[in-house]
This record gives sequence, C-alpha cells and structure tokens, in this order.
Amino acid sequence: MTVSENEGPYLVCSGLFKIYKVADLEVVALRGLELSVNPGEVIAVVGASGSGKSTMLNILAGYDTPSAGTVRVGRFDLLHMTNKEVVEYRRQEVGFIWQETSRNLFPYLTAYENVELPMLLTGVPARTRRERSNELLEIVGLGHRHGHRPAQLSGGEQQRVAIAVALANRPPLLLADEPTGELDEETAAEVLDLLNNVNQELGTTIVIVTHDPAISTSVGRAIAIRDGKTSTETTRAVSFEKAIGGDARDVEEFLLVDSSGSVQIPREVLDQLSIRRRVRLGVNEGRVTLESGE
Ligand SMILES: Nc1ncnc2c1ncn2[C@@H]1O[C@H](COP(=O)(O)OP(=O)(O)OP(=O)(O)O)[C@@H](O)[C@H]1O
Ligand SMILES: [Mg+2]
Repeated sequence: MTVSENEGPYLVCSGLFKIYKVADLEVVALRGLELSVNPGEVIAVVGASGSGKSTMLNILAGYDTPSAGTVRVGRFDLLHMTNKEVVEYRRQEVGFIWQETSRNLFPYLTAYENVELPMLLTGVPARTRRERSNELLEIVGLGHRHGHRPAQLSGGEQQRVAIAVALANRPPLLLADEPTGELDEETAAEVLDLLNNVNQELGTTIVIVTHDPAISTSVGRAIAIRDGKTSTETTRAVSFEKAIGGDARDVEEFLLVDSSGSVQIPREVLDQLSIRRRVRLGVNEGRVTLESGE
C-alpha cells in the first residue's frame, strides 16, 4: 500500500465501548478507547491481563462488534458493515495471527496448502496462487519446508507459516495477538524480525498485542491499554545517528488525551500527590499543572 501520511490515518478507533453481558452481569471490556494508526506503521499494544487488548484486536479483526463508538479501517466502517462486507473485510483487508500456534494452521494440510487456502476462498487463479504461496514461504524463510505439515514444524516455524497464511490475500493490515507468547526468547525475536521485514517489504500495517517488553521496545510506537482505554504511548524518535547506521534512539512516553479531553493519570502519581476525587488545574506559561483539590 502506498498511501502517504498526509492522507490521514489508516485505522481509527474513537470512543470505542465493548460491553459483554454474562447472565445479568455486565463486563465493560473497552471504555472509550481511542487509537489511530498510520498506513505502514508497526505498533505494539501492551497492558495488564484483562485490560482489553484481545477485545480490541477481535473487533479490529471483524470477529466481534463494538457496543458503541467508531472504528474505521481503510474504507471499512466496522460498526456498520453488512454480512457480505464482513466476509470481504476478513478475507481481503485483514490477516490475523493467534498466540496458540495450533489455532493458526490446519494440521492435515502442508505449509504450502495452508498458505494457498485463503486464496482458494477468494478465487485467486491457480498460477497466481502457486507463485504467491511460494513467494510467501520464501519471505518467511520456509521455502524448503513447503511440504511439511504443522506437526513436522517447530513452534517458531509454525508461527512463520501462520504469518504467510495471514498475508496470502495481501491484506493491508496484519493483527497479531501475542504471536510470540508460546515461543522461547530467541525464536520470538526471529518472528518479530520477520514481522518487521514484512512491514518493510510489503508495506503492511501491523498491530501486535504483547506482554513481551522486547517487542514493545523494538517497534516505532507502543500503546498501553489500561482498564479498556488507551492511556500512554511510547515513541522512539529515530535520531540522526540511527539514520546514518548507528543505534542511538530517544524514547519518550506520553499520556494520551481522548476526544473528550480525558487523560489517565498513573496511579503512582495520584498516590504520590494524594489526588483523589478532584484536582485544581493551573495553566502557566504553556504548562498545565494539577494539584490535589482533596
Ligand atoms: N466473551 C467474553 N464474555 C465476557 N467477558 C469477556 C469476554 N471476553 C473478554 N471478557 C472480559 O473483558 C475484559 C477484557 O478481556 P481481554 O481478553 O480483552 O483482555 P486482555 O487484555 O486480552 O488480557 P490477556 O492479557 O489476559 O489476554 C476482561 O475482564 C475479560 O474477562
Ligand atoms: Mg488477550
């Protein structure tokens, strides 16, 4: 995809709510989540267990529908899709990788057949299917293992095939929910490198949900979700040394401001300043100050 940044974000969530009803209990999994991702960006989504990461990813994948808010991905409005559009969205716009390696591949199909399958479903002609399957297996470094079934591949190799499967219909968006969660450190690093390569070579926009600090510090931007809302963002400004081949990077953490002007102040800061129910706001020479209002 060659959309330039001036054409605006590729993916936007705004005021996103997801409420699960279990019996007569309501669980608010997302409460006004905001997210904006530019075309061709790789972002990591981090956050404690139960903070809403998978819920957000499942909505972005078209597996689940939000209760309220706005979600737009490319030309798709995810809140108002017909069934036909949902099918089209899942097949053409987005590729998905699960944490459980076994969930990504059909065990009785070879690596090659697994990669070919999504293209069979979208009616891609035989020759293109063959070329693309081979090309994708090369990209993920498994060209020589195309006849192997998942059980004959290691966990890391299975995840690499899963990436090839997810990319089969050339989706502009790749979503991965803890893709390295079941892998050892070294294999996880290889899978991560591969995702970065895919981004560079194919221009795919990638959203990776992770607990793994190594992932969150090796992408351009990491977003933290807390209690169903995006709360902070860590960006790496690639400095001049990096641009000329060095490795110096500046890391900056920001609090995110949502569309209604809310920010989440970290619990430690609230405790440190004894801020409870309300704060006094000061605006001073371009700076905002908050102090406890008891
Ligand atoms: N199908 C469901 N029915 C009811 N509640 C759900 C459902 N799915 C998720 N939840 C609840 O929504 C909240 C967010 O869950 P979610 O799976 O998105 O968290 P997560 O950040 O992915 O956590 P983890 O890191 O453990 O995977 C949790 O409180 C969870 O119990
Ligand atoms: Mg999860």
